[in-house]
Amino acid sequence: MATLTNTIHSLSKDFFKKLEGITTLSELEALRIAYLGRNGKIAQLMPALKTLSIEDKRNAGPLINELKQKTHAAFEEKKQQLALQKTERELEADNTFDITLEQLNCSTGTLHPLTITYNAIRNIFLSMGYEIITGKEAETEAYNFDALNIPQDHPARDLGDTFFLDVPGMLLRTHTSPVQIHAMQTKELPIAMAALGRVYRHESTDATHDIVFNQAEGLVVDKEISLADLLGTIELFFRSFFNKKDLQIRVRPSYFPFVEPGLEVDVSCPFCKDGCSICKYTSWIEVGGAGLVHPHVLQAGKIDTNTYSGFAFGFGIDRLTMLKYSIPDVRLFSGGDLSFLNQF
Ligand code: PHE
Repeated sequence: MATLTNTIHSLSKDFFKKLEGITTLSELEALRIAYLGRNGKIAQLMPALKTLSIEDKRNAGPLINELKQKTHAAFEEKKQQLALQKTERELEADNTFDITLEQLNCSTGTLHPLTITYNAIRNIFLSMGYEIITGKEAETEAYNFDALNIPQDHPARDLGDTFFLDVPGMLLRTHTSPVQIHAMQTKELPIAMAALGRVYRHESTDATHDIVFNQAEGLVVDKEISLADLLGTIELFFRSFFNKKDLQIRVRPSYFPFVEPGLEVDVSCPFCKDGCSICKYTSWIEVGGAGLVHPHVLQAGKIDTNTYSGFAFGFGIDRLTMLKYSIPDVRLFSGGDLSFLNQF
């Protein structure tokens, strides 16, 4: 037994001494085969172990196990160390790869200004407890026009104003209002939802018109909804959007087939006190349309008009973004000009 213990100790000493002197992976592999291999020095201890008495086996067994573990761990560590050194040496030798070369100017990119506004609007609606629905961009004529009380002879239904699809009765939605109808038909009452997304109009483009743009629209349907609820909501919305506590709203009578009464909404100019070029020296800026949901629209949404009423308001996300950042031309949003986009 004493001789076996001595052998274990001297084996361990030899191994670690040799390991220390090793500088290459091939030397290390040779050491592994000599000591840790299937016929290596450690494996060769086993026959001697078998000849021992049970009691001596109980002492020598754990010693051999410990030796195995220690040598294996040290071997793995050395292997990693040498591999790393080898890579470093190779990189140094390869002078085509200059590790001191400065990193190229890789910019991380920025959010599109419309995305920034979209997210801000979405968060305001969420904070007011509205559910966000994006809806479908391909709609039926029935949802985009009929259900919204838009008469058959309305100019919006003209081929020149709407992109009709090849599928009969299908079109690219001209506003986010059809999402209201889907919501009314499928959701339980009361409803507080916001439709956000892309809309399409077949018209010539200029600095304030593009064929694709984005709308945001709020709809609330409940018992005893009044104009006062609508005005309070719009005021709250725009105060948050322009981050201005004393922002005022003003409404003027207007006509949208799906609301009655219909209103045009202005906000007091968030950028000046007594007139600037943005508000065209009027101190007011037009931001969107609103009104109490027309009974025909509620009926199309399968809602009992004796018990329920609702309000809706909608505005252009592109227009609000242009106002917020003083952007002069809506076409910049889809122009892909990086010098414009990188400012955000
Ligand atoms: N859908 C209208 C538009 O596209 C905006 C609007 C929404 C007006 C809701 C009133 C109520 O112009």
